[in-house]
Amino acid sequence: MRIGVLTGGGDVPGLNAAIRAVARRAFQLDWEVIGIKNGWLGLIEGDMGPLMPDDVSGILHVGGTILGTSRTNPLKEEEDLQRCLKNVDSYGLDALVAIGGDDTLSVAHGLHQRGVKVVGVPKTMDNDVPETDYCIGFDSAVTTVVEALDKLHTTASAHHRAMVVEVMGRYAGWVAVVGGLAGGADFIAIPEVPCTIDEICQHVKDRWARGRRFSIIVVAEGAKFPEVKESEEELGEKDAFGHVRLDRRGIGATVAREIEERTGFESRVVVLGHLQRGGSPTLFDRLLATRLGVAAVDLLKEDKHGYMVAYKGNEVVPVELERIAGRIKEVDLELYELARIFY
Ligand code: F6P
Repeated sequence: MRIGVLTGGGDVPGLNAAIRAVARRAFQLDWEVIGIKNGWLGLIEGDMGPLMPDDVSGILHVGGTILGTSRTNPLKEEEDLQRCLKNVDSYGLDALVAIGGDDTLSVAHGLHQRGVKVVGVPKTMDNDVPETDYCIGFDSAVTTVVEALDKLHTTASAHHRAMVVEVMGRYAGWVAVVGGLAGGADFIAIPEVPCTIDEICQHVKDRWARGRRFSIIVVAEGAKFPEVKESEEELGEKDAFGHVRLDRRGIGATVAREIEERTGFESRVVVLGHLQRGGSPTLFDRLLATRLGVAAVDLLKEDKHGYMVAYKGNEVVPVELERIAGRIKEVDLELYELARIFY
């Protein structure tokens, strides 16, 4: 048996741990492993080569991905899709393991519908892949957010400022809610729950009146405010999956500026950006990536494909890719309400 493995979409800590787990379990079964470079792009271009035991040695704790990644969508152009199908054949790939978020897994589903044996592994720091409690990379990203909030608390309190912290989270506010909850945020704004900048300002003022002369406001990059008029066109070209670049939106800076103008309290913004995707994976992500990677190969061993290996209640279980494709898992509103108790 010869399997191909690829990582697609934004990188996160834990991808190498997952590649290592896929490869090691495959080697144990005497299978060959082909590393496909730069996500689906490598499958289109036939950019791939054998992964040997030495290639996956010493990478468990290393961030990024030894395979590279990209936001390539081979389902967009028929020609790209045909090149993928041809390369699966010509490189003798019996099956694929696709490690990625909702976009990568939707492509995996599309290829599976066209006869390719694929198993998906969920990774995204946004944690918004449906049917799994956790995605690889989320815990590491949120740990970075919590460390940042701890540091920002001291400087915010020393200068009596409102500190707006913009975190990633395009459609779902998992990073903002879990990071804000664990880091003691004084307000959290997320895409799923509408709120106004006025509400935030009022909150900052109320805290000031109670003697709390600083505030930490966590804003997900995808949070929307009725007061902020914007058009997607201003954010430039969309990627192959139709997403605009939210770093160009600068919603954190807008909120900080508005707080200062409306309340008179000094405000600053910190955009955590790609720092959230860097560094070593946490203990949780290493374990998760290892369990999911091995489980993906074990599914293929049973000739099961068209599934994603999901993590549910500390169990690893298979879920059909068709239940994942094109869907997003919104934040758990109970967690959001829990965080609000501490505002
Ligand atoms: O992949 C998800 C994500 O982390 C989003 O939260 C964010 O908008 C995006 O990646 C940024 O990606 P890029 O690396 O292309 O700037």
